[in-house]
Amino acid sequence: MSAVVTGGGRGLGRAYSLALAAAGHAVVVNDLGDGPAAAVVAEIEAAGGTAVASTHDVTDFAAAAGLVGLAVERFGALDVVVANAGILRDRTLASMGEAEWDDVIAVHLKGTFAVAHHAAAHWRARAKAGGPVDARLITTTSASGLYGNIGQSNYAAAKAGIAGFSLVAAQELRPYGVSVNCVAPSALTRLTEAPLLRHEGAITDERRHALDPSWVARVVAWLCGPDAADVTGRVFDIRGPQVGIASGWHLEPTFTQPDDPGELGRALRAAVAAAPPAADMEGRRNG
Ligand SMILES: NC(=O)c1ccc[n+]([C@@H]2O[C@H](COP(=O)([O-])OP(=O)(O)OC[C@H]3O[C@@H](n4cnc5c(N)ncnc54)[C@H](O)[C@@H]3O)[C@@H](O)[C@H]2O)c1
Repeated sequence: MSAVVTGGGRGLGRAYSLALAAAGHAVVVNDLGDGPAAAVVAEIEAAGGTAVASTHDVTDFAAAAGLVGLAVERFGALDVVVANAGILRDRTLASMGEAEWDDVIAVHLKGTFAVAHHAAAHWRARAKAGGPVDARLITTTSASGLYGNIGQSNYAAAKAGIAGFSLVAAQELRPYGVSVNCVAPSALTRLTEAPLLRHEGAITDERRHALDPSWVARVVAWLCGPDAADVTGRVFDIRGPQVGIASGWHLEPTFTQPDDPGELGRALRAAVAAAPPAADMEGRRNG
């Protein structure tokens, strides 16, 4: 069994790499630069596991092919992809520059597509050749993409896009023996430490424990394991020990437009009032 973890050199990706290696996967730990991925590979090897480092940039379509190819070449086949690599470039919409938009869309949305595409082609080829495929694709969304967060229109667009992408991928890849699930993690990493410090002033040991990436890694490792083959097309919101299933858009209520356009505003207002309130950042309907 082999796994690719993008952005596997730090934070959540490191925790996923360690958990998957502990569960018996040979892991391709992918991250930018020479240091982070190699350090995680050394950790896995020191614990008796098997891993190889990759420095492919997931925003580069050809490099993403190289990443999938490395797993197949080194470990014979690819069974798990965790598309996790990510960056933040927070700005309000009125202040956001083109590069901040493009960079975030490239790493999250294109990076997820690029790696998932090459993996999907590999799984389809194996399925068509008659070989049994029991594979997993895990993608990464966020509370920002699911519920909305000020200053993150670029990130929320990418992350909501990934959630929608994952629903389609789950349907398309199921016939090949691949399950696809999306995780919205909350964990203390270099991505979240500074905003959390700004918001909370200090981070207690208790909070550090509750936000340890290993909580999310446990769930991801289960989703990648043999018991989860039939679990697909779901979004898991994982905040430390708290796990929830995030449900998607629902059509409620519906109405037929009145013949008189002058009555439309009233009908629309009534529908808005009757609709469930949008979720807050905790994912709850507080209206
Ligand atoms: N930490 C949280 O609470 C939280 C919340 C919601 C979503 N997420 C998502 O979880 C994922 C992991 O985030 P994290 O908190 O561990 O952040 P992190 O910064 O600790 O790790 C992300 C890793 O991705 C790597 N990366 C960035 N661009 C890359 C590229 N082009 N190719 C390969 N690797 C690349 C980075 O070098 C880094 O090591 C991200 O997708 C993030 O958006 C995290």
